Amino acid sequence: MAKVFVTRKIPEAGITKLKNAGYEVEVNPEDRVLSKDELVKQIKQVKPDAVLALLTDKIDAEVLSVAKDSGVRIFANMAVGFDNVDLEAAKKAGIMVANTPGVLTDTVAEHTFALMLAIAHRISEADRFARAGKYHGWEPMMLLGTDLSYKTVGILGLGRIGSRVAHHAAKGFNAHVIYYDVKRNLDFEAEFLAEFRPTVEEVLREADFVSIHVPLLPTTHHLINAERLRMMKPTAYLINTSRGPVIDEKALALSLSKGWIRGAAIDVFENEPKIEPELLKLDNIILTPHIASATEETRAKMAELAAENIIAALSGKEPPNLVK
Ligand code: GLV
Repeated sequence: MAKVFVTRKIPEAGITKLKNAGYEVEVNPEDRVLSKDELVKQIKQVKPDAVLALLTDKIDAEVLSVAKDSGVRIFANMAVGFDNVDLEAAKKAGIMVANTPGVLTDTVAEHTFALMLAIAHRISEADRFARAGKYHGWEPMMLLGTDLSYKTVGILGLGRIGSRVAHHAAKGFNAHVIYYDVKRNLDFEAEFLAEFRPTVEEVLREADFVSIHVPLLPTTHHLINAERLRMMKPTAYLINTSRGPVIDEKALALSLSKGWIRGAAIDVFENEPKIEPELLKLDNIILTPHIASATEETRAKMAELAAENIIAALSGKEPPNLVK
Protein backbone atom coordinates (compact mmCIF):
# COMPACT_ATOMS: atom_id res chain seq x y z
CA MET A 1 0.00 0.00 0.00
CA ALA A 2 1.38 3.42 -0.96
CA LYS A 3 2.13 5.77 1.89
CA VAL A 4 1.62 9.51 2.24
CA PHE A 5 3.28 11.61 4.90
CA VAL A 6 1.43 14.80 5.85
CA THR A 7 3.74 17.28 7.54
CA ARG A 8 1.08 18.73 9.83
CA LYS A 9 -2.60 18.37 10.72
CA ILE A 10 -4.69 19.61 7.78
CA PRO A 11 -8.46 19.65 7.12
CA GLU A 12 -9.90 16.14 7.25
CA ALA A 13 -11.24 16.39 3.68
CA GLY A 14 -7.70 15.97 2.33
CA ILE A 15 -6.89 13.00 4.54
CA THR A 16 -10.20 11.30 3.69
CA LYS A 17 -9.52 11.69 -0.01
CA LEU A 18 -6.12 10.04 0.36
CA LYS A 19 -7.50 7.21 2.49
CA ASN A 20 -10.39 6.63 0.07
CA ALA A 21 -7.82 6.29 -2.70
CA GLY A 22 -6.36 3.40 -0.71
CA TYR A 23 -3.26 5.05 0.74
CA GLU A 24 -1.83 4.70 4.18
CA VAL A 25 -1.66 8.22 5.62
CA GLU A 26 0.71 9.24 8.34
CA VAL A 27 0.28 12.72 9.80
CA ASN A 28 2.89 14.50 11.91
CA PRO A 29 1.34 13.87 15.34
CA GLU A 30 2.52 17.22 16.68
CA ASP A 31 0.57 20.24 15.55
CA ARG A 32 3.61 22.35 14.79
CA VAL A 33 6.12 22.93 12.00
CA LEU A 34 8.75 20.20 11.89
CA SER A 35 12.35 21.36 11.95
CA LYS A 36 14.41 20.31 8.96
CA ASP A 37 16.08 17.56 11.00
CA GLU A 38 12.71 16.28 12.15
CA LEU A 39 11.32 16.35 8.62
CA VAL A 40 14.32 14.45 7.30
CA LYS A 41 13.99 11.93 10.13
CA GLN A 42 10.29 11.42 9.43
CA ILE A 43 10.92 10.90 5.71
CA LYS A 44 13.67 8.36 6.45
CA GLN A 45 11.45 6.54 8.94
CA VAL A 46 8.10 6.61 7.14
CA LYS A 47 9.55 6.14 3.62
CA PRO A 48 6.49 7.72 2.04
CA ASP A 49 5.68 7.65 -1.66
CA ALA A 50 4.37 11.20 -1.39
CA VAL A 51 4.65 14.11 1.02
CA LEU A 52 1.80 16.57 1.53
CA ALA A 53 3.74 19.65 2.57
CA LEU A 54 2.91 23.16 3.75
CA LEU A 55 4.43 26.52 2.91
CA THR A 56 6.17 26.48 6.29
CA ASP A 57 8.19 23.39 5.30
CA LYS A 58 11.48 24.25 3.71
CA ILE A 59 11.98 21.63 1.03
CA ASP A 60 15.60 22.24 0.10
CA ALA A 61 18.21 20.17 -1.71
CA GLU A 62 19.09 18.17 1.40
CA VAL A 63 15.47 17.25 2.15
CA LEU A 64 14.95 16.36 -1.50
CA SER A 65 18.00 14.16 -1.59
CA VAL A 66 16.80 12.20 1.46
CA ALA A 67 13.32 12.08 -0.09
CA LYS A 68 14.71 10.66 -3.31
CA ASP A 69 16.59 7.94 -1.45
CA SER A 70 13.44 7.15 0.53
CA GLY A 71 11.29 6.77 -2.60
CA VAL A 72 9.25 10.01 -2.48
CA ARG A 73 7.73 10.79 -5.88
CA ILE A 74 5.92 14.02 -5.18
CA PHE A 75 5.86 16.94 -2.77
CA ALA A 76 2.34 18.33 -2.95
CA ASN A 77 2.29 21.76 -1.37
CA MET A 78 -1.01 22.77 0.21
CA ALA A 79 -0.51 26.35 -0.99
CA VAL A 80 -0.57 28.25 -4.23
CA GLY A 81 2.93 29.60 -3.53
CA PHE A 82 5.86 27.20 -3.81
CA ASP A 83 8.84 29.38 -2.95
CA ASN A 84 9.46 27.01 -0.01
CA VAL A 85 10.58 24.32 -2.48
CA ASP A 86 13.89 24.25 -4.33
CA LEU A 87 12.48 23.45 -7.78
CA GLU A 88 15.87 22.94 -9.41
CA ALA A 89 16.85 20.40 -6.76
CA ALA A 90 13.47 18.69 -7.13
CA LYS A 91 13.97 18.43 -10.87
CA LYS A 92 17.43 16.97 -10.35
CA ALA A 93 16.05 14.47 -7.86
CA GLY A 94 13.26 13.55 -10.29
CA ILE A 95 10.61 14.47 -7.70
CA MET A 96 7.40 16.19 -8.79
CA VAL A 97 6.17 19.36 -7.08
CA ALA A 98 2.54 20.47 -7.10
CA ASN A 99 0.59 23.42 -5.69
CA THR A 100 -3.07 24.38 -5.14
CA PRO A 101 -4.00 27.30 -7.41
CA GLY A 102 -7.55 28.40 -8.14
CA VAL A 103 -9.39 27.16 -5.06
CA LEU A 104 -8.15 30.04 -2.92
CA THR A 105 -8.50 32.87 -5.42
CA ASP A 106 -11.82 34.25 -4.15
CA THR A 107 -10.85 33.94 -0.52
CA VAL A 108 -7.53 35.73 -0.92
CA ALA A 109 -9.21 38.43 -3.01
CA GLU A 110 -11.80 38.86 -0.24
CA HIS A 111 -9.08 39.13 2.37
CA THR A 112 -7.29 41.69 0.23
CA PHE A 113 -10.45 43.80 0.27
CA ALA A 114 -10.92 43.22 3.98
CA LEU A 115 -7.45 44.72 4.45
CA MET A 116 -7.95 47.50 1.92
CA LEU A 117 -11.22 48.65 3.43
CA ALA A 118 -10.05 48.16 7.00
CA ILE A 119 -6.99 50.37 6.57
CA ALA A 120 -8.83 53.02 4.54
CA HIS A 121 -11.70 53.17 7.04
CA ARG A 122 -9.33 52.87 9.99
CA ILE A 123 -11.22 49.87 11.36
CA SER A 124 -8.53 48.42 13.63
CA GLU A 125 -7.57 51.85 14.90
CA ALA A 126 -11.23 52.73 15.57
CA ASP A 127 -11.76 49.42 17.36
CA ARG A 128 -8.76 50.12 19.62
CA PHE A 129 -10.10 53.64 20.21
CA ALA A 130 -13.57 52.40 21.20
CA ARG A 131 -12.24 49.67 23.48
CA ALA A 132 -9.95 52.18 25.20
CA GLY A 133 -13.06 54.12 26.27
CA LYS A 134 -12.14 57.10 24.08
CA TYR A 135 -15.51 57.38 22.34
CA HIS A 136 -17.42 60.20 23.98
CA GLY A 137 -19.87 60.95 21.19
CA TRP A 138 -20.08 61.48 17.42
CA GLU A 139 -17.64 64.04 16.13
CA PRO A 140 -17.46 65.57 12.67
CA MET A 141 -13.70 65.16 12.49
CA MET A 142 -13.20 61.90 14.35
CA LEU A 143 -11.15 59.11 12.75
CA LEU A 144 -11.58 60.32 9.19
CA GLY A 145 -10.54 57.75 6.62
CA THR A 146 -10.49 57.45 2.85
CA ASP A 147 -12.97 56.18 0.26
CA LEU A 148 -12.02 53.32 -2.00
CA SER A 149 -14.84 53.99 -4.48
CA TYR A 150 -13.79 55.79 -7.67
CA LYS A 151 -10.11 55.70 -6.68
CA THR A 152 -7.22 54.32 -8.69
CA VAL A 153 -6.31 50.80 -7.68
CA GLY A 154 -2.88 49.62 -8.83
CA ILE A 155 -2.34 45.89 -9.17
CA LEU A 156 1.18 44.49 -9.21
CA GLY A 157 0.95 41.01 -10.71
CA LEU A 158 -2.13 40.14 -12.77
CA GLY A 159 -2.38 36.43 -12.06
CA ARG A 160 -5.53 34.74 -10.79
CA ILE A 161 -5.68 36.64 -7.50
CA GLY A 162 -4.57 40.00 -8.92
CA SER A 163 -7.26 39.70 -11.62
CA ARG A 164 -9.93 38.88 -9.07
CA VAL A 165 -8.95 41.88 -6.95
CA ALA A 166 -9.10 44.03 -10.07
CA HIS A 167 -12.55 42.64 -10.86
CA HIS A 168 -13.90 43.54 -7.40
CA ALA A 169 -12.25 46.97 -7.50
CA ALA A 170 -13.67 47.83 -10.92
CA LYS A 171 -17.11 46.22 -10.61
CA GLY A 172 -17.72 46.66 -6.90
CA PHE A 173 -16.12 50.01 -6.23
CA ASN A 174 -16.06 51.74 -9.62
CA ALA A 175 -12.32 52.02 -9.22
CA HIS A 176 -9.99 52.82 -12.07
CA VAL A 177 -7.67 49.83 -12.34
CA ILE A 178 -4.10 50.13 -13.52
CA TYR A 179 -1.71 47.21 -13.48
CA TYR A 180 1.82 46.06 -14.03
CA ASP A 181 2.65 42.52 -15.02
CA VAL A 182 5.37 40.90 -17.07
CA LYS A 183 2.59 40.05 -19.53
CA ARG A 184 0.02 42.47 -20.87
CA ASN A 185 -3.59 41.22 -21.01
CA LEU A 186 -5.70 43.07 -23.58
CA ASP A 187 -8.91 41.09 -22.89
CA PHE A 188 -8.66 41.99 -19.23
CA GLU A 189 -8.11 45.64 -20.08
CA ALA A 190 -11.20 45.69 -22.30
CA GLU A 191 -13.38 43.94 -19.74
CA PHE A 192 -12.47 46.15 -16.79
CA LEU A 193 -11.46 49.33 -18.60
CA ALA A 194 -8.12 48.71 -16.96
CA GLU A 195 -4.86 50.23 -18.09
CA PHE A 196 -1.48 48.61 -18.37
CA ARG A 197 1.58 50.37 -17.05
CA PRO A 198 4.90 49.13 -18.39
CA THR A 199 6.74 49.68 -15.10
CA VAL A 200 6.11 49.12 -11.41
CA GLU A 201 7.12 52.72 -10.81
CA GLU A 202 4.29 54.09 -12.93
CA VAL A 203 1.74 52.11 -10.93
CA LEU A 204 3.28 53.31 -7.67
CA ARG A 205 3.20 56.96 -8.73
CA GLU A 206 -0.44 56.91 -9.85
CA ALA A 207 -2.33 54.54 -7.59
CA ASP A 208 -4.30 55.43 -4.46
CA PHE A 209 -4.23 51.77 -3.43
CA VAL A 210 -1.44 49.42 -4.48
CA SER A 211 -2.14 45.71 -4.08
CA ILE A 212 0.68 43.19 -4.52
CA HIS A 213 0.02 39.80 -6.13
CA VAL A 214 3.39 38.67 -7.48
CA PRO A 215 5.10 35.36 -6.67
CA LEU A 216 8.30 35.50 -4.64
CA LEU A 217 11.20 35.21 -7.08
CA PRO A 218 14.73 36.63 -7.09
CA THR A 219 13.30 39.43 -9.29
CA THR A 220 10.50 40.29 -6.86
CA HIS A 221 12.52 40.18 -3.65
CA HIS A 222 12.28 43.71 -2.14
CA LEU A 223 10.31 44.83 -5.17
CA ILE A 224 8.98 47.46 -2.79
CA ASN A 225 11.97 49.20 -1.25
CA ALA A 226 12.59 52.67 0.20
CA GLU A 227 13.16 54.24 -3.17
CA ARG A 228 9.90 52.92 -4.56
CA LEU A 229 7.92 53.74 -1.42
CA ARG A 230 9.03 57.33 -1.88
CA MET A 231 7.44 57.33 -5.33
CA MET A 232 3.99 56.59 -3.93
CA LYS A 233 1.47 59.30 -3.14
CA PRO A 234 1.50 60.43 0.49
CA THR A 235 -2.22 59.60 0.53
CA ALA A 236 -1.72 56.08 -0.84
CA TYR A 237 -2.13 52.69 0.82
CA LEU A 238 -0.07 49.55 0.24
CA ILE A 239 -1.66 46.10 0.58
CA ASN A 240 0.29 42.83 0.48
CA THR A 241 -1.23 39.36 0.45
CA SER A 242 1.51 37.75 -1.67
CA ARG A 243 4.81 36.99 0.07
CA GLY A 244 6.54 39.02 2.76
CA PRO A 245 10.02 39.37 1.26
CA VAL A 246 8.50 41.29 -1.66
CA ILE A 247 8.54 44.30 0.69
CA ASP A 248 11.56 45.62 2.55
CA GLU A 249 9.85 45.77 5.96
CA LYS A 250 12.30 48.23 7.51
CA ALA A 251 11.70 50.59 4.59
CA LEU A 252 7.95 50.14 4.98
CA ALA A 253 8.14 51.05 8.68
CA LEU A 254 10.15 54.14 7.79
CA SER A 255 7.72 55.18 5.07
CA LEU A 256 4.74 54.83 7.42
CA SER A 257 6.37 56.73 10.25
CA LYS A 258 7.59 59.51 7.94
CA GLY A 259 4.27 59.81 6.12
CA TRP A 260 5.64 58.88 2.70
CA ILE A 261 2.46 56.82 2.39
CA ARG A 262 -0.72 56.97 4.44
CA GLY A 263 -1.12 53.36 5.44
CA ALA A 264 -0.44 49.72 4.76
CA ALA A 265 -2.15 46.42 5.44
CA ILE A 266 -0.16 43.24 5.12
CA ASP A 267 -0.84 39.55 5.63
CA VAL A 268 2.69 38.29 5.00
CA PHE A 269 6.05 39.11 6.54
CA GLU A 270 9.63 39.18 5.51
CA ASN A 271 10.84 36.71 8.15
CA GLU A 272 7.75 34.79 9.19
CA PRO A 273 6.68 34.30 11.86
CA LYS A 274 8.75 37.29 13.02
CA ILE A 275 7.35 40.75 12.43
CA GLU A 276 9.60 43.78 12.14
CA PRO A 277 9.27 45.40 15.62
CA GLU A 278 9.07 48.90 14.12
CA LEU A 279 5.85 47.92 12.31
CA LEU A 280 4.24 46.85 15.58
CA LYS A 281 4.58 50.36 16.95
CA LEU A 282 2.59 51.98 14.16
CA ASP A 283 -1.11 52.79 14.09
CA ASN A 284 -1.33 53.20 10.31
CA ILE A 285 -0.72 49.56 9.48
CA ILE A 286 -2.90 46.47 9.80
CA LEU A 287 -1.14 43.15 10.27
CA THR A 288 -2.83 39.78 9.79
CA PRO A 289 -0.83 36.58 10.38
CA HIS A 290 -0.76 34.97 6.90
CA ILE A 291 -4.45 34.07 6.95
CA ALA A 292 -5.59 35.35 3.55
CA SER A 293 -6.71 31.86 2.47
CA ALA A 294 -7.83 30.80 5.94
CA THR A 295 -11.53 30.06 5.62
CA GLU A 296 -12.95 26.67 6.49
CA GLU A 297 -14.23 26.15 2.95
CA THR A 298 -11.04 27.13 1.20
CA ARG A 299 -8.60 25.30 3.45
CA ALA A 300 -10.67 22.13 2.94
CA LYS A 301 -10.52 22.64 -0.83
CA MET A 302 -6.77 23.22 -0.68
CA ALA A 303 -6.29 19.99 1.30
CA GLU A 304 -8.43 18.09 -1.23
CA LEU A 305 -6.56 19.54 -4.19
CA ALA A 306 -3.19 18.65 -2.66
CA ALA A 307 -4.55 15.11 -2.18
CA GLU A 308 -5.72 15.01 -5.82
CA ASN A 309 -2.26 15.99 -6.98
CA ILE A 310 -0.81 13.11 -4.98
CA ILE A 311 -3.40 10.63 -6.22
CA ALA A 312 -2.66 11.55 -9.84
CA ALA A 313 1.10 11.33 -9.34
CA LEU A 314 0.95 7.96 -7.60
CA SER A 315 -1.38 6.63 -10.32
CA GLY A 316 1.22 7.41 -12.96
CA LYS A 317 -0.65 10.49 -14.26
CA GLU A 318 0.43 14.08 -14.41
CA PRO A 319 -0.83 15.92 -11.30
CA PRO A 320 -3.40 18.58 -12.29
CA ASN A 321 -1.27 21.27 -10.68
CA LEU A 322 2.23 20.10 -11.43
CA VAL A 323 4.70 22.96 -11.03
CA LYS A 324 6.80 23.00 -14.16
C1 GLV B 1 -0.59 31.02 0.84
O1 GLV B 1 0.15 31.91 1.11
C2 GLV B 1 -0.46 30.19 -0.31
O2 GLV B 1 0.55 30.31 -1.04
O3 GLV B 1 -1.35 29.38 -0.54
